[in-house]
Amino acid sequence: MKKILIILILFLIQMPSKSARPGVPETRQRVLMDYNWKFIQSDIKEAEKPDFDDTKWRTLNLPHDWSIEGEFKEDAITKGPGGYLPTGIGWYRKRFNLPSVDKGQQFWIEFDGVYMNSDVWINGHHLGKHPYGYTSFYYDLTSFIKKGGNIIAVRVDNSLQPNSRWYSGSGIYRHVWLNIAGPVHIAQWGTYITTPEVNSSSATISVRTSIENHNQGAKNMILRSVIKNESGKEVATAETPVLLTSSEKTDVEQTLSVASPSLWSIDTPSLYTLQSFVLEGTKVNDTYSTIFGIRKIEFDKDKGFFLNGTHIKMNGVCLHHDAGCLGSAVPEQAWARRLQLLKEMGCNAIRTSHNPPAPEFLDLCDKMGFLVMDEIFDEWVEKKGQVGFSYHIYFEEWWKSDLLSMIHRDRNHPSVVIWSAGNEVPDQVVETGSEVMRKLSEIFHKEDPTRPVTQANDRIAAGDGPAKLPFLELQDIVGYNYVDRWNERRELYYSADRHDHPDWKMIGTENVSVGGLRGQYSIASDQSDRRPGRSRDYRLGMIQAEQLWKFTSVNDYVIGDFMWTGIDYLGEAGWPNKNSSSGVIDLCGFPKDGYYFYQSQWTKKPMVHILPHWNWAGSEGKVIPVIAYSNCDTVELFLNGKSFGAKSYVFPQQGHSKSWIGYARPYVAPTTSDLHLSWDVPYEPGTLKAVGRKNGKIISEEVRTTSKPAAIRLSADKKNINADAHDIANVKVEIVDENGFVVPTASNTIDFKIEGEGILLGTDNGNPQDKTQMKSKQRNAFNGLAIAVVQSTEKSGNIRLTAVSEGLKDAVIQVVSQK
Ligand code: GAL
Repeated sequence: MKKILIILILFLIQMPSKSARPGVPETRQRVLMDYNWKFIQSDIKEAEKPDFDDTKWRTLNLPHDWSIEGEFKEDAITKGPGGYLPTGIGWYRKRFNLPSVDKGQQFWIEFDGVYMNSDVWINGHHLGKHPYGYTSFYYDLTSFIKKGGNIIAVRVDNSLQPNSRWYSGSGIYRHVWLNIAGPVHIAQWGTYITTPEVNSSSATISVRTSIENHNQGAKNMILRSVIKNESGKEVATAETPVLLTSSEKTDVEQTLSVASPSLWSIDTPSLYTLQSFVLEGTKVNDTYSTIFGIRKIEFDKDKGFFLNGTHIKMNGVCLHHDAGCLGSAVPEQAWARRLQLLKEMGCNAIRTSHNPPAPEFLDLCDKMGFLVMDEIFDEWVEKKGQVGFSYHIYFEEWWKSDLLSMIHRDRNHPSVVIWSAGNEVPDQVVETGSEVMRKLSEIFHKEDPTRPVTQANDRIAAGDGPAKLPFLELQDIVGYNYVDRWNERRELYYSADRHDHPDWKMIGTENVSVGGLRGQYSIASDQSDRRPGRSRDYRLGMIQAEQLWKFTSVNDYVIGDFMWTGIDYLGEAGWPNKNSSSGVIDLCGFPKDGYYFYQSQWTKKPMVHILPHWNWAGSEGKVIPVIAYSNCDTVELFLNGKSFGAKSYVFPQQGHSKSWIGYARPYVAPTTSDLHLSWDVPYEPGTLKAVGRKNGKIISEEVRTTSKPAAIRLSADKKNINADAHDIANVKVEIVDENGFVVPTASNTIDFKIEGEGILLGTDNGNPQDKTQMKSKQRNAFNGLAIAVVQSTEKSGNIRLTAVSEGLKDAVIQVVSQK
């Protein structure tokens, strides 16, 4: 009967459940509440009242970010930090029907993230306020919910500006879930799984389960925990009798053992599922699933990081939470594509700067094998710069519950290996800062003793107020932002501190910030941006990154490095730019040249990349410097078949392995100690070809002089998507010449038309100065490329995207959307 009722509830709510798993009794439901919200971008009086008339409001699905729908305006209140987009106040309302409510049944609503200052009501009752826009939160609805129609109202207030140093987005920009369970159930984020002993023959799994009893009176129950492997096979089971007292949370500790475990690693990210059953005799009162990994992490002050006993250098990138034209409402597939690109670059670690990410981002990191530094705040007590309404105004009241939210939500993810308490908090330089560091660390250690805590310090050797020693000493790992920033540290990096504090563990929490524009080549430094590493001269492009990487790669005590940033992000810009271009991937997800620098250092599969493009009409006979990034032993450059010579790196130079001048590998004469190769080539149109040789393998890359734009070419990362109004296909738009080669300077205007069961979610070209609205159906190409993001509706069908541009052959692509 109960099962029928729940199926009926689901039918009436008309939302798919993501929680249903084959073979698990449906005693609890986790219903995705993303569909059919009413929205207005305005502050409306009494909109929390159940009978408020919202029929004229817009209907939309979550996740939703209203800022990204707006226009870029120089006088926007968010200014450069917020990407010149609008913010303000908005209201959301959602109706749902419950055909009946069982006695004792428990309901709670869970918000993965709302930016920011949200207030939530159910049927007119105020449930609470949540200022921080990046932490997940939930409210108990049980006392206010009723049979029949219910209404949730959410007021989102992002009007206090500026409140962020980067683009935040505005609205309910992550998923919302309705949880329905019986009176005895496992608490929200109620399991905590650790793997205290791990080796290839067996692993010990410790499970703590928090169970709530909402019945009057105590109950005798059994907690049955079952671990299943990826094929669904049971590999361990434990049963523990539990006496649950009324209205209290009871923690149950269990220890299980898994024989011959498949360990989670970055190359083989094997996952297990813990299924928890709360039983009353044979009756199942609650079921709950937790995905986890079996892995061992160790941090050594001399040798760095070990995963399952294997040394791994963290080749990391920092990432912000937006995804360019999608703003902060980012479908999972957008991150799947971006993370895949980073994986192919050799990146194995991500710092979620400067806030906790969406839960599904961490799920992807678990599945794809990334190490994560999960960061909570950009500010504590002390205000940073000119951002008047940022977290320092909430810290006192909210730090603890925000911190607990992140730890409890994220501590079962095998990908999360380090917690970061903050980024460049000015508290590092004041006397009171260490007290704050201490109380944050205490919570981290109490709630999760298995992971170390860092803070991204940027003032370690500042002459005008360095970070305080007690502050740094409270960190399990000392985080260095811009380690080469201070005086002689430009060359010495970590060594001075290593000498003075040999017991410190050290990591590069944020470094380099090289940036640049995809496909844009100049050999004149941009003097307007004097920050280190910001030269727009392509010959100098990665020199700072090269120097740092040489140090990081050969000094094992440096756990790794997180460069700023893997991908461009909205905001933190100055007009006429709307976004930061510090990434090695642009806002569309197209790699810049810097991407290939990291790939050459972080991957082994032979690769070679050359730059710039070869369309320099008018420069015939002039010298054009050609740069290559490669992991090959030698790279030989040819122009129109004529060799300009083979070159090779000296670094890392192999030492003698046998007698004098005896080497393990064939000796290759170096030509440079940089981590790039270069040739001066007098320009003539034609084909530039780089041929890389490694262990007998030959690979090459060509760059051609193209003729003028002739056609548009479209290609999609996925041709089949789910008809769930969430899934997307990223359509790459290329402007090609008559021979099908991308014209690297093309900026043609493209008009898009979408037909069938899809919408055009956004368009972009990666140019920070392009301020066409992100939802526009018209977009110029930037250096030959643009992107159009297509999203499914809830109906199955074909989606047809047509791209036209005056003077060019148009293009059509079809994507199939299915339930
Ligand atoms: C860092 C900061 C980042 C970003 C970056 C810009 O100091 O942590 O959030 O502002 O500078 O280069």
